[in-house]
Order: sequence, then structure tokens, then C-alpha cells
Amino acid sequence: MSDYVSGYPEYMQESLKKVEATRASRVGKSFTPMTAEERQRVLEEYHPDWKMDQKRELRVGPSKGELMPHEVVNILEAHNMIKPDQIDLSKIDYDVDVLIIGAGGAGLSAALLANENGIAPENILIVQKLRLGDANSKMSQGGIQAADHPNDNPAIHYLDVIGGGHYYNKPELVEAMVKDGPDVIKWHEELGVLYDKLEDGTMQLAPGGGTSRRRMHSCKDYTGVEITRVLMDEIINKGISYVEFTCAVEFVMDDMGQVAGAVLYDMDSDEYKIARAKSTILATGGFGRLHIQNFETTNHYGATGDGIVMAYRAGANLIHLDSTQFHPTGSAYPEQIVGQLCTEKLRARGAQPLNEDGELFVYPLETRDVEASALIRECYGRERGITTPSGVKGVWLDTPLIEIINGEGTIEREFAAMFRNYNKFGIDIRKEPMLVFPTLHYQNGGVEINVKCETNIPGLFAAGEICGGVHGKNRLMGNSQLDLYVFGRRAGKATAERAKTAKIGKLNLDHLDRYEKWLEEEGIETDRKSPILLPEYRGEKTLKHQLKLL
Ligand code: FUM
Repeated sequence: MSDYVSGYPEYMQESLKKVEATRASRVGKSFTPMTAEERQRVLEEYHPDWKMDQKRELRVGPSKGELMPHEVVNILEAHNMIKPDQIDLSKIDYDVDVLIIGAGGAGLSAALLANENGIAPENILIVQKLRLGDANSKMSQGGIQAADHPNDNPAIHYLDVIGGGHYYNKPELVEAMVKDGPDVIKWHEELGVLYDKLEDGTMQLAPGGGTSRRRMHSCKDYTGVEITRVLMDEIINKGISYVEFTCAVEFVMDDMGQVAGAVLYDMDSDEYKIARAKSTILATGGFGRLHIQNFETTNHYGATGDGIVMAYRAGANLIHLDSTQFHPTGSAYPEQIVGQLCTEKLRARGAQPLNEDGELFVYPLETRDVEASALIRECYGRERGITTPSGVKGVWLDTPLIEIINGEGTIEREFAAMFRNYNKFGIDIRKEPMLVFPTLHYQNGGVEINVKCETNIPGLFAAGEICGGVHGKNRLMGNSQLDLYVFGRRAGKATAERAKTAKIGKLNLDHLDRYEKWLEEEGIETDRKSPILLPEYRGEKTLKHQLKLL
């Protein structure tokens, strides 16, 4: 380490020496993947989804009786935040063919495809809680899967997705996703996305946990930023309308039982506005900021599960909300970035998870749920983790191996963002490992859709992380990036088609009264209101969620 000064506290140095001492012997060595029985055991004993006391049955609406995390039930068993009789539905602020709620990858692609399929830019409106593009999709690091290499094909990709999802996936959605995969990559490239290439001009592809082929396409370790950059430029170039700092808080229905737009809350002017639309696409993303079981999260600030609430009050089917994804490697140190994503691509390029004695304790590319469970077991079951000064536990992710295996310069080139981020805290990940622990990453379940992104309510479409069914009960790396462009594009196309014939009836908010009645009938007494729009971190809810874990 020469004159390099470690970025970790003095008391961790002994453990770091063990990591260094065992490094050479671990190069080129793998760890045997678990058997099916071992995987099941570690999931049942350590995966947060298997902690049944952390869930309860929903007591209201068509999904009554389904198990969901308390935090999700809390936002569903809650009153709406508006007073319907004080909302003037005769004053329409925006009147469009296609309303898109959410401006992440799914929303942006839906807008572009609606436009490409005949909807004029001014007849499309994107509403975005924060700024255009602020979404989990932009924060994606490691890559996007697509079976476009000669040694791969959509059928192999399909099998990986279904196996990873424990066979709970809706097969037709998986089929749609894997078949559209190569077209999505082609579309991105035509628009200007700069994917990583090998010297011969072909795609640089990496493996991921649970993938049987190298099919991860990446843009260094900021894949989401690069794709969002290009799609946002395209939205602006086409002149597609959008409003920022505006949240959708409830759907507006009409007297034909259709979703016909939404009530919007303008955060700048503190006013409610009405958007009327022939078709509405829900693309609000996930719920990481609900901090399920007090886990830290990789998610962006606006990921508060609003879409689930709005859709459910309007009568949409929800599926698989009992299942949540915890990414195996969130940052556990330094404190300022606890919970932030340390991409799976680090393991795909050779980094190994190690315990306090520098021992590799799990095959680095098990599927996410299994890998996360193994890390939790090492820290809390076997007590072989490292505890930070603030009491957070973690294991080492031995990143210097990446340079040894792939050559000097690999980290700066392929993990440019991560390298800079850690350098700010005095940690050079080429020389020292990262300290990591699982972090809440993805909403596996959500609103049920078909291959055209239609929900069970006429006029309401959904795409991206808000939807359930595509990934079953465990998503594999890079398939969310793919899913949101595949289904965003499909939603855009389907809504453009619908706009040709759809008619809107008289607007109402009767579903909100109906929902209030259901709450009353079930004897649910609460002063909770939802959607919550932005997370609350004042008071007791400061950092250190993990301290309350066990
Ligand atoms: O590890 C990652 O880069 C995350 C990718 C994903 O969730 O698909």
C-alpha cells in the first residue's frame, strides 16, 4: 500500500490485513454455488421476505387478505390527502390524449413511442414529481440485459428470468420482455446511447447473478444516467410537454368507469390541478423510500409508492407485493453514503464478498435474494461481519481483485463514478475493499398488466417498476432496465392506438368515497394519509435504519 493512507478506522486495519493476506490465494478461485436446498434454507432463515412478522394481511379492497409489508399496508389502509368535494373537476388545466405520470425510463419511452405512433407532442403530457428524469432508472449503474449476442437468444434469457423469479413470473410478460430486448438496445444506440464496446466494436457484455450468458450491456457504471440523458434530449427535441415538481395524487374517473386523467398537486404553487386524458400511463416507479423493515435504500427521493395507492383506490389489481428486493451490496461505510448502490457489476468483474477474516463465504453471483441472505447470515447469524463506528454491520467487497484480474486501469475506466465517489471519502477502491450490506432496492410486485400494459381498468396503463408480474418474486440484475424500456414503449404504442377511438365521459372522484366506505366498513381507524409524496426524515427517522434490523 506504500504511502497510501487507509480510508478506514484504525480498529478495522487488522481485518483489512487479513483481506490483503488472503487476496493472492483467492485470485482465480471460485466458491461453489449453493445447492437448491442450501439456497432455500438461507432464504428462509435470513431473507427479509421470510420474516412473517414484518408483514400483515391487507384488510381493504379487492386484494383484501393478501400479505404485504406493514409499510405497504400502511399506505393502502390510509385516507386520501384531498377533499374530493373541494376539487373542481369542471376546470381542466391540461387536456391531452396521453397523460404519463412519472418521467423515468418507462415514462420517457412511453412518451416517445406515443409520439412516434401519431400523438402530437402537445397532446402528450408527462408529469413529474421532481425533475424530468429523476427516477430509479437514472440511478442504474451496472447495466441492462438483452440477448443480442450470437451465443445467446431470448429463449435462454427467458429461462434465466423465470428461474430467478422462482417461477412466479407471468410468462407472457417475460416473453414480451426478452423478445423485445435486442430491439431496445438497437433503439437506444440509434438515439445515441454510448454503450461500452470492445476494441472490435462489439458490445462489452458482463454476467450477472443468475444469468447463464454474458448479456449485461453497460455504460461504465452509470448506465441509467447515459440512457436517460439521451431519452430526455429526445423528449426536448420533439417538443413533448412536461411539467416538473408536480405530483399526481389521485386518478380521475369518468361515468363509464374509465380512468380519465388525474388530480395533480403543483408543489411550486401549492395548488391542485386537473389533467384530463383519453389514456393515462402510470410510471411512478417503486417504493424504496418506504424503508421496508427499516432498511436503507438505493432509491431516489421520490420513490414513495404513490402509484400503488392511486391505482388501488381506482380498483386496479395488485400482485406479488409480498416480495421486495434487497440488493446484496449497498454501502455500509462511510456513513454519508450508507445504503447507496455498489453495483453487482463489481462482482461480475471479480470482486468477492469476504468476512472479517478475509474469507470468501459465498459464490459472488448467486441470485440477488440468495446473495443478500448470505451477507445477512454472515453479519448477524455467524457474527463474522465488521461493525462501523455508528453500529452498522457489513462485509468486505474485495474490489482490488478487479484490477488484478482484468488489468490496471479497469476500475477507473469501468467504475468511474464509484471510484470518484469513494475517493471523496479517502477510500481508493483499487487499493482497499468496500464495506457492504444489503439495501432495499426494488419493488418486485405492483400493478398487474398485460403485454399491452393495460391494467384491469379501461384507460389506465402501467409500465416499469410500478408493475408486478414480470420478475416474479426476485428480479435479476439488468432486467429492470430492460423491462422499463420494453413496457414503456409498449404502453406508448398502445395508448396512441387507443386515442384514435377513446371518448371521455363525465368526470368524477366517486372511487375515493367508495374507498373511504371500505375503510369504514373494515373498522380501519387511522389518521394516516397517502400518497405520502416525499419521505419524512425528521424526528426519529434519521439514518441508521439498519440498527433496528435485528
Ligand atoms: O447492481 C446493479 O448495478 C443494479 C442493477 C439492477 O438493479 O438491475
